[in-house]
Amino acid sequence: MTLSSFTRRTSRRNSPDDQGHNLTNLLPLPKDEISLLRHAGQSRKWPIKSQTQQCLDITQFKNLFQPIRIGAEELSHRIVLAPLTRLRANKAHVHGDLAVEYYKQRSSTPGTLLIAEGTIIAAKAGGWDHTPASEVVDAVQAQGCFIYLQFAALGRSGNPELLERDGISKDNFVGASAISAHPGGAVPRPMTHTDISEYLKVYATAASNAVLKDDFDGVEIHKGSGTLSGQFLQDVSNQRTDKYGGSIENRVRFPLQMVRAVADAIGEDRTAVHILPWDTSSGIRMQDPRPTFAHFVSKLCALHPGLAYLHVVEPRVSNLLTAEEGPLSESDSNDFIRNIWAPLPLISAGGYSRESATEATEKCDYLIAFGRTYIANPDLPMRFMKNTPLTPYDTSTFYAPDLGCTWIY
Ligand SMILES: Cc1cc2nc3c(=O)[nH]c(=O)nc-3n(C[C@H](O)[C@H](O)[C@H](O)COP(=O)(O)O)c2cc1C
Repeated sequence: MTLSSFTRRTSRRNSPDDQGHNLTNLLPLPKDEISLLRHAGQSRKWPIKSQTQQCLDITQFKNLFQPIRIGAEELSHRIVLAPLTRLRANKAHVHGDLAVEYYKQRSSTPGTLLIAEGTIIAAKAGGWDHTPASEVVDAVQAQGCFIYLQFAALGRSGNPELLERDGISKDNFVGASAISAHPGGAVPRPMTHTDISEYLKVYATAASNAVLKDDFDGVEIHKGSGTLSGQFLQDVSNQRTDKYGGSIENRVRFPLQMVRAVADAIGEDRTAVHILPWDTSSGIRMQDPRPTFAHFVSKLCALHPGLAYLHVVEPRVSNLLTAEEGPLSESDSNDFIRNIWAPLPLISAGGYSRESATEATEKCDYLIAFGRTYIANPDLPMRFMKNTPLTPYDTSTFYAPDLGCTWIY
């Protein structure tokens, strides 16, 4: 799933008269019609259909359907497609045409932000089958929407056998420390400082490819526990004794260096960070994630105040891969992150409904990402606007490789 195969073609962004995607002429959603979006600096204009004419009292939504600026883009509302791995790419990590259709369906409301599924930054950082790539950026942007690509390096969550099958030496199966993700699982080789430097270059190259060549609007760096970055952050998977392990300051070092590498390559305003302090998937969860994540987010604020957004998953979703809602203790809350990060742009995900998203965005200037509900309702923003009944999601279709055309839902 190389990045170049996620998309296609010559970059528009590199052309001399087109240095960006700013939407400067976005009108706030009027009561009875979504109007015209214009891509500043480009000849492309998106006449937006009057899809909402018959329906709306959007005054009830207050912030949920108000425009907001994210990095270099102006969104027309705050409902975001959460990153959703669907395992529909083929074993060569290439999507078919249905990927284009899938993302196109979910960009039917102009001005929507989509976060594309977790994508491996380079072959050696992989080790999963059916993770993506294909041509989707055009389809999404042609409808007046924006698409960020979620970056992941799997580290110990990969599979050394699959790396080898793909022609990558098993020696590339690395992690923060020699600790397997699951009892009895493969044990990664602890990364050397040379490995770390190489990975930083890979992050920068992958970011340039995604944004400068392939025209993604930005990149979201995934720091979940199933990723290499998360494995460095968390003390249960990082027991190093060098400058990348031990103290909190040391454990956040590599994850912060990744952000620097990507931001230097594509600009802070096209770089975003995704954190999951409470996630239990992939065999890790610190006893108390707050001190580590508080320090990490404070550093992000101080070093990169111009980041496009910080994306957090709420503690009620305890397992990222299933999005199951798990038991909560009273102290489990992301409020400590919100307090540090405010007033910078924040996307919150995890178990939201139309009502709770409306309530949350009235209290704070958030965006809300939807996963499972957006899978089953490709036109989710419009359904929320019209208060149309939702199609229930079907978990049996979430991860289903080789299903051919049934994968869209
Ligand atoms: C099928 C499926 C695939 C997912 N894939 C990813 C992924 O690739 N990257 C990621 O950060 N989160 C992933 N998630 C988590 C979602 O982005 C989201 O945080 C989670 O589903 C909670 O939101 P929800 O309650 O609206 O579903 C996935 C969730 C599901 C159900």
